[in-house]
Amino acid sequence: MSNSVIKCENVFKIFGANAKKMLQESNGNVDAKTFQENGCIVGVNNASFEVAKGEMLVVMGLSGSGKSTLLRCISRLTDATGGKIYIEGQDLLELNNKELIDLRRNKMGMVFQSFALLPHKTVVENIAFPLQIKGIEIEDSITKAMDMVKLVGLEGRENYFPRELSGGQQQRVGIARSLAVEPDIWFLDEPFSALDPLIRKEMQDEFLRLQEKLQKTIMFITHDFDEALKLADRIAIMKDGIIEQLDTPANIVLNPATEYVRKFTEEVPREKVLLIEDVMEKSDTKDLSELKVSKDETIENVAEKILSQDKSVAVIDSNNKIVGSINPTKIINTVFGGRKNSS
Ligand SMILES: Nc1ncnc2c1ncn2[C@@H]1O[C@H](COP(=O)(O)OP(=O)(O)O)[C@@H](O)[C@H]1O
Ligand SMILES: [Mg+2]
Repeated sequence: MSNSVIKCENVFKIFGANAKKMLQESNGNVDAKTFQENGCIVGVNNASFEVAKGEMLVVMGLSGSGKSTLLRCISRLTDATGGKIYIEGQDLLELNNKELIDLRRNKMGMVFQSFALLPHKTVVENIAFPLQIKGIEIEDSITKAMDMVKLVGLEGRENYFPRELSGGQQQRVGIARSLAVEPDIWFLDEPFSALDPLIRKEMQDEFLRLQEKLQKTIMFITHDFDEALKLADRIAIMKDGIIEQLDTPANIVLNPATEYVRKFTEEVPREKVLLIEDVMEKSDTKDLSELKVSKDETIENVAEKILSQDKSVAVIDSNNKIVGSINPTKIINTVFGGRKNSS
């Protein structure tokens, strides 16, 4: 990947007094059980991946699977026990203290599940605070903070205190605060997990809208597979510290790499996740019906139209060029087949 912003090579994080020594002796083959018997807990087990500029990688896994630990290694809130981490080509472990502080203040933004707002500061003061730490004049910091207030839709509430806001509003402040410093790389650790489902959905939509505009390089953590499918460019699925699969939502749903991953995909409404492009035939472009559908439509949006045809339907790209075809039967198979009964 030539435009990689984050790059991990065989990253391990192991907790315990003998962690380093045991990792060395294991030659990179870390068995969590053996380690545990020797007083070590495996947090991250041999993670290798890259995140491209402007990409949103969602790290998904159940509680305790190592998501936060992986993120903490990459933001260097903790030091990895082994492996290499590069941020824009720079070896993270080689940075001195000053460079590290600089990186965190100017390049990386973080949002956590707990909003961690300062209770005696108002919305706008909370957002301006990290700017003031950076040495920006109070007046300028407030101006900038007000821009952020607008960006996250809190206009009119800038002088409220955190206790006067709902959970969703508080998290908007958290998001605005982390965006105020204009980070290129954005880490979000279960930012919406504490919110109730309706607010959560609203925040996800809002977040996608923001990302469309801001195009940050993002690692977003969640334990919710639906949230991952909705937000991700690619998803990394973790279990016991290991990344079981890292792929696009469509490929994960269509080709789960392990039994563990397949279980998550069982309940997924495929028609909402898969695009026509994901299921079309690339070669069969003869004897098609008059109807044309875009390759970028979700199956859900065009299923009815396709099912009304007898012949295969032409699939076109944004230039109206036919790039494949889709048979009505394929739609039925995709929507109704492959779920539940595939084992
Ligand atoms: N500071 C720590 N000391 C010891 N074990 C830890 C520490 N932090 C995390 N762990 C362990 O590492 C594993 C992964 O934890 P974590 O990354 O917090 O999971 P997740 O974020 O996916 O819920 C868990 O078994 C957890 O108990
Ligand atoms: Mg966590």
